[in-house]
Amino acid sequence: MPRKLFIAGNWKMNTGLPDGIELAGKIRDASGANEAVDVGVAPPFVYLREISQVLSQSPIRLGAQNMYCEDNGAYTGEISAEMLKDVGCRFVIVGHSERRHVLGENDELINRKVIKALSDGLDVILCIGELLAQRESGQTNEVVTEQIKIGLEGVPSVCADGKSLSERLTVAYEPVWAIGTGRTATPDQAQQVHEMVRTLLADMYNATVADEVRIQYGGSVKPGNAAELLAQSDIDGALVGGASLKAEDFIAIIEAGVGLKK
Ligand code: PGA
Repeated sequence: MPRKLFIAGNWKMNTGLPDGIELAGKIRDASGANEAVDVGVAPPFVYLREISQVLSQSPIRLGAQNMYCEDNGAYTGEISAEMLKDVGCRFVIVGHSERRHVLGENDELINRKVIKALSDGLDVILCIGELLAQRESGQTNEVVTEQIKIGLEGVPSVCADGKSLSERLTVAYEPVWAIGTGRTATPDQAQQVHEMVRTLLADMYNATVADEVRIQYGGSVKPGNAAELLAQSDIDGALVGGASLKAEDFIAIIEAGVGLKK
């Protein structure tokens, strides 16, 4: 079975409430249920509830950009998986490069978040990706392998709800040097890493999980490069930052995926 694409917009610390609502409304109106692509948006925490209402009758998935791995307690400033579900989230982005490199998260913490999100019923987008210096010194595969191995340590191939990990987990390969820089990995560069990740998942789990799991590419995805990236055999969607803040651009990226119908 071909993998259905998953295109998600990561709004990061952008939009206010009125423009966030407007953006979500435009995306909702332009992208109905479709066979080729799942669509998601991850607004800032404080707007999730309102955006959830905007998307309530639509197939667009609502996600959060981060969460903490405990249920409740003395964790000032943090948000739990249950809280995210309360406001309508279906997925959470874990291990984004800005969480790793600006906010100092390490693979062990990211692993605890992945485990908690999956066991509490949130789907996960697990982000991985190398720094420019790591790519230039030939360490890309090693870095990405370690991020996957530690990030998924102790995560079983079947989740507690009985669903396959491949239904609940998406991996997002986002080379750090391509995020927000306008510098995109070439389709070949991205495909090579995606293929390597899929092989690694086959070793860690089994061929079915590896074959079914969706691997998104992220890093300066735009209307002009989306089709070429999404056409690669192991690229199953996109995690879109900057271009997801403009409804027309995000919709054009979704349409590029629909046009491909893998
Ligand atoms: P970008 O961000 O599309 O602005 O490069 C991608 C991301 O950080 O997920």
